[in-house]
Amino acid sequence: MANNEDLLKKIIAHSKEYGFVFQSSEIYDGLSAVYDYGQMGVELKNNIKQYWWKAMVQYHENIVGLDAAIFMHPTTWKASGHVDAFNDPMIDNKDSKKRYRADVLVEDHIAKIEAKIFKEVEKAAKRFGDAFDEAQFVATNPRVMGYNQQIDEIKARLYPAMGSDDLSDLKKLIEDLEIVCPISGSRNWTDVRQFNLMFSTQMGSLGDSANTIYLRPETAQGIFVNYLNIQKTGRMKIPFGIAQIGKAFRNEIVARQFIFRMREFEQMEMQFFVRPGTELDWFKYWKEQRLNWHLSMGIPEENYRFHEHEKLAHYANAAFDIEFDFPMGFKELEGIHSRTDFDLGAHEKFSGKKLRYFDPEINESYVPCVVETSIGLDRTFLAVLTYAYREEKLEDGSERTVMKIPPVLAPIKAAVFPLVKKEGLPEKAREIFDSLKLDYMCQYDEKDAIGRRYRRQDAIGTPYCITVDHQTLEDNTVTIRERDSMKQDRITIEEISGIIAKRIKENK
Ligand code: GAP
Repeated sequence: MANNEDLLKKIIAHSKEYGFVFQSSEIYDGLSAVYDYGQMGVELKNNIKQYWWKAMVQYHENIVGLDAAIFMHPTTWKASGHVDAFNDPMIDNKDSKKRYRADVLVEDHIAKIEAKIFKEVEKAAKRFGDAFDEAQFVATNPRVMGYNQQIDEIKARLYPAMGSDDLSDLKKLIEDLEIVCPISGSRNWTDVRQFNLMFSTQMGSLGDSANTIYLRPETAQGIFVNYLNIQKTGRMKIPFGIAQIGKAFRNEIVARQFIFRMREFEQMEMQFFVRPGTELDWFKYWKEQRLNWHLSMGIPEENYRFHEHEKLAHYANAAFDIEFDFPMGFKELEGIHSRTDFDLGAHEKFSGKKLRYFDPEINESYVPCVVETSIGLDRTFLAVLTYAYREEKLEDGSERTVMKIPPVLAPIKAAVFPLVKKEGLPEKAREIFDSLKLDYMCQYDEKDAIGRRYRRQDAIGTPYCITVDHQTLEDNTVTIRERDSMKQDRITIEEISGIIAKRIKENK
């Protein structure tokens, strides 16, 4: 589904039309890279949060939750390294006056070379048919080998340039690759400068720099500074985890691609505290667990892939991303990092408080190592929409837009319709609706022909529609129509809630 710009545009339009996502402050022409979740969006978002929380906190007796404040003591961000190093290299094009992330310009250039490789492979696969051996082709085809060599050479310059204080190497790389501004088409670039991504504000009424505090750029630090509180009050034994869902803020240089890269977003993070020396085993464990969580939603495996970090952050000794096949191609959805004892060690140093664990099994006291799983809630939302959005041609020649949202996440679980707006059917349908709404988010709809009502529910991803007809008044049965197959079954009114529960559990 690589680079399907058209699909992204359709998802954005559909999200707006049906109350999933709106541009923030739209009546004032919007605020760049900030979005509001509408009546359907908030339900989907809450369901994703709940699905994650259950898997992480409820199903693991050694993981507990936390809801830390967004504002934190400013020294937190000194200790974590964000004040000094949470930077992106930026570059401006003097002609278009557009600002870019310098590393992203280079990565986009690499992606173009990768697309050429993909084309060569596709062509060869067609030519050779069943006999095609992709691995052998990639390893031996001179053109593909040349492209791969180009990529290796670029990366061999990009990573050291990113790690260096002198950003002139990065500018030289952009010049040598003859990268042009996508807007002006020119190569008239400024120098590359560092840009800190944290938003700052003042606390209290004194506007001096001593009162500068930051909007947290990740939720993780709230967990680290509460490590000892929770370990002691929860009598937690290592290994144990602390999970948190909350807002994070980053002043992204380039904020585009809808809710993929936002300036205000939500993270679902879990820090797992382990005995030093065991962190890489736990890292492997969490890598598998997290992929399984994604697959458990019912989105097929081919939509996901692992990406191993080639350049590790200074605090990590292993890092993988789970990437999703977004309309813009495979991009990071979740990060799993083995962060060593860097964070707790740094907070110990800066706060002067001991953040250690006495391990009775080995009779030793140590600063625990941390394995982190960090997933963007908004990106998960976009992943679900990307998978769910379908335009279908039906057997009768008509068309429908249906959101095949996994039932467990669907904003509205069931809609109840009277077949016609008379003869006692609305009263019966309301009775069913009033009872069903105690168990599920439901909608009642009696307007328009039944087909149009089905279409409206398809468009918001409602998995089950219950229709009350004349037979209902005789034998207390209704039809239940399943969104994806459009198959209808006749069931009794008493069975409705149980059948919906069973189908949601089975995710179908
Ligand atoms: N505590 C680790 C951490 O924050 P990260 O890779 O910077 O790691 C974790 O962020 C996740 O947060 C990403 O995988 C992504 O899903 C999400 N995320 C990061 N920046 C984002 C942004 N600007 N907009 C939306 N989601 C973002």
